[in-house]
Amino acid sequence: MNYIADNENLSDKIVLLRLDLNVPLQDGLITDETRIDKVLPIINFLIKKRSKIVIISHIGRPKGKVNKIFSLKPICENLEKKVEQKVRLINENIFNLKKEDLFKNHNNQIVFLENIRFYKEEEKNDISFAKHLAELGDLYVNDAFSCSHRAHASVSKITEFLPSFAGLQLKTEIDALKKVTSEIKKPITCIIGGSKISTKIGVIKNLIPRFDNIIIVGGMANNIISYNGNNIGKSIKEENCEKIIEEIYKTLKNHSCKLTLPEDVLIGKNIDGKSQVKKLNDIKNDDLILDIGPKTIKKINSIIEVSNTILWNGPAGYFENPNFAIGSYEIAKSIIKKNKEKSIYSVLGGGDTIALINQINAMKNFNFVSTAGGAFLEYLEGKDLPGIKALN
Ligand code: 3PG
Repeated sequence: MNYIADNENLSDKIVLLRLDLNVPLQDGLITDETRIDKVLPIINFLIKKRSKIVIISHIGRPKGKVNKIFSLKPICENLEKKVEQKVRLINENIFNLKKEDLFKNHNNQIVFLENIRFYKEEEKNDISFAKHLAELGDLYVNDAFSCSHRAHASVSKITEFLPSFAGLQLKTEIDALKKVTSEIKKPITCIIGGSKISTKIGVIKNLIPRFDNIIIVGGMANNIISYNGNNIGKSIKEENCEKIIEEIYKTLKNHSCKLTLPEDVLIGKNIDGKSQVKKLNDIKNDDLILDIGPKTIKKINSIIEVSNTILWNGPAGYFENPNFAIGSYEIAKSIIKKNKEKSIYSVLGGGDTIALINQINAMKNFNFVSTAGGAFLEYLEGKDLPGIKALN
């Protein structure tokens, strides 16, 4: 893989910089800036090298349509303050843009393309779209490890059309995860939660042979709880997952890995409401599962207690409401305790997990924090990530 830092000849070159600035937003306000802070080194590096920078990113899942809710404007404004210079957000249709116009009549060194997922071609890894994008720059840098598991035009296909390099943050993440996976100490426990069920449920089966414990919490657990015959009320669930879950249980039979699921939960009548502890067989049709219950917390903590390595992706509940943040906080607390005693190696990943850990100001209490969620799990699975493969 070629690293951008080794490249001397960057002055006045137009660099297409793919970042993952998919940060959590609430009413248009950024609730966690970690992913922006993590890419400041590459931006500052390119500023010093006197490159012209074209930032490409996505936020959310606008499904190929322009949608103001998913505008990168607040992120662009935030970045502008951080790099202390004007960053021009380009709203114009990408198909009408020409390389020679990007920096004409402007003194800017940085421009920011509006959400790349406003174009349906992006997620289709469309070749002409990638070619057109590539024509806007002289070289391409991927500093978006957290979306390198997506075979999308600005992550993968684009590398076919111009010299392509790995960015500083991408290198840091890969180096750290390589180290983690090669020097890993058993027993290994992997906690998977969060609400991106479709991304993660397929990964579990492949993680079973690698780990001693897999703990499923958050929205992820609902599908399996429901598969096991429990009512999950109005809780989030992914359709058509029965086959995947069947395969998970089949794979478990052939390995020593133990699967742990919630035994009790906290429910609410809506996401902003109060919480109530419930056993799995007490869940009513109008209940929403929004956190794990005290019995489950106790069980998870006892597993953490005997683990030497812990990998954690995805919160245990809807932590944005403090009434449903207890499970995630308790998990964090027991990892931090073991970390302080130096009796566990802890790695966590994912935008929401980082936001959660920032809420309790505990980032420094983990051995490594990856910005990636889905990409982190797929890397652990041993998969060749399309964005990384494309750089090789
Ligand atoms: C992430 O937040 O994990 C990345 O930005 C990828 O987002 P996606 O799951 O919508 O592709």
